Amino acid sequence: MAQEDLFRKLVAHCKEYGYVFPSSEIYDGLSAVYDYGQYGAELKNNIKKYWWDSMVLLHENIVGIDAAIFMHPTTWKASGHVDAFNDPLIDNKDSKKRYRADVLIEEHMAKIEEKITKEVDKAKEKFGEAFDEKKFRETNPRVLANQAKLDEVHTRFAKALNDSNLAELKQIIIDNEIVCPISGTRNWTDVRQFNLMFSTEIGSTADGSMKIFLRPETAQGIFVNFLNVQKTGRMKLPFGIAQIGKAFRNEIVARQFIFRMREFEQMEMQFFVQPGTELDWFRHWKELRMKWHQALGFGAENYRFHDHEKLAHYANAACDIEYKFPFGFKEVEGIHSRTDFDLKQHQQYSGKKMQYFDPERNESYVPFVIETSIGVDRMFLQIISAAYCEEELKKEDGTTDTRVVLRLPSYLAPVKLAVMPLVKKDGLPEIAEKIVHDLKFDFNCQYDDKDSIGRRYRRQDAIGTPYCITIDHQTIEDQTVTIRYRDTMAQERVKIGQLKDIIAEKVNIRSLLKKL
Ligand code: GAP
Repeated sequence: MAQEDLFRKLVAHCKEYGYVFPSSEIYDGLSAVYDYGQYGAELKNNIKKYWWDSMVLLHENIVGIDAAIFMHPTTWKASGHVDAFNDPLIDNKDSKKRYRADVLIEEHMAKIEEKITKEVDKAKEKFGEAFDEKKFRETNPRVLANQAKLDEVHTRFAKALNDSNLAELKQIIIDNEIVCPISGTRNWTDVRQFNLMFSTEIGSTADGSMKIFLRPETAQGIFVNFLNVQKTGRMKLPFGIAQIGKAFRNEIVARQFIFRMREFEQMEMQFFVQPGTELDWFRHWKELRMKWHQALGFGAENYRFHDHEKLAHYANAACDIEYKFPFGFKEVEGIHSRTDFDLKQHQQYSGKKMQYFDPERNESYVPFVIETSIGVDRMFLQIISAAYCEEELKKEDGTTDTRVVLRLPSYLAPVKLAVMPLVKKDGLPEIAEKIVHDLKFDFNCQYDDKDSIGRRYRRQDAIGTPYCITIDHQTIEDQTVTIRYRDTMAQERVKIGQLKDIIAEKVNIRSLLKKL
């Protein structure tokens, strides 16, 4: 299936099965804002629990906080967001559509890279075992020409970003004949900077109101609480502060469903370290975060690191963890070595010493910071993309059927088990209800007695429920039920009394955390 088709189906599936709805849909929705439905909210909570426990439970030296969204406006002056949290914008004069200039160029580079990959794949298929990819890449004229083109754009692009050279960004677009996807023309405006923060007012105008911002990242709520947490928690370096919360950005190019939203949620952890040790910690957190992603079992080949060309104003090293979405490798998480920039800025703007007294060195200093920052919604999309699967099934009469299944890791699945009486009589519903009543304290259970058993299985497959328990007439005789496994569709008979242990072993987040 073409990747665009797959993505379209995924979005439709999320809506049809209660995962994600467009915000205020009855009023035609609000661009780049989404609501999570009954299953989406559960999945989101499970993702957050996986992250929170991996930070706060597994590390004695990491604690969690929950800071307010509204912050004193000087916070954003100090952090640099008022002056530098901008995206380079360009408009197409014919379609009147607005784009991020850097995204247009990145997409152009991705297309060249795709051409190279296609050429290599074609040759691989033709030559089979004997294929020497390295030699092919070094000698094939078409690959070489495209590689040279890619390298040239890449070098110019990196330099333009580093120099914040907006005229050069436009020139790259012109020179590479990049067209507007809507109008197909190259009739571009100049590139301009656009600040991404939303603002509002706090207090009534009669009392004198103050312009404040909706936080564009949760990190600043951690920095301004550095002293509070360090002192009240008697934290010793190195230590971390973790937080999950909403962030807001007035994104210009809000596309690809929940990949880029205007209201989203972040899971961020700031790890405070001795100056001079930050690059070792940066490497440590890179590895640890990659392990966290890969523990979900979606295949190591679908993840990669991407080191930043342009470092943000606060960083001395930065990298992304990218996942292979249906629309290509894209960032899911950022790991940044933020130096002592933020604490020093807050020290300067607030006049409060943002320092740590190091008893071993017998001196005070401003710690350096490693940040891990991941979007809950983007992680949600990554998981749903990886889990969505359409399978061809052979029926007994020789015909085929398609099954849509969400192969969610059991610990993340919104519903852990569905309990189904085979028929709505003969005392079977009562047994099913009792099983739900007994297990609901441990797992998210669903009672399901509508439609044929086959349709019920399919419905649960589409939601991603890992276990279906069926109660039939044999249950009355020997207290056994059928447990049906979502991924293999295999079924086995087990005693009702064994259900809790069997399911607990598979869905308990402990087994996932133990992999870290
Ligand atoms: N505190 C650092 C920071 O905010 P970032 O790279 O701008 O860094 C971190 O964002 C993560 O937040 C991204 O890797 C992504 O997962 C998520 N994120 C950022 N902007 C987003 C948006 N508009 N919609 C959804 N997720 C977003």
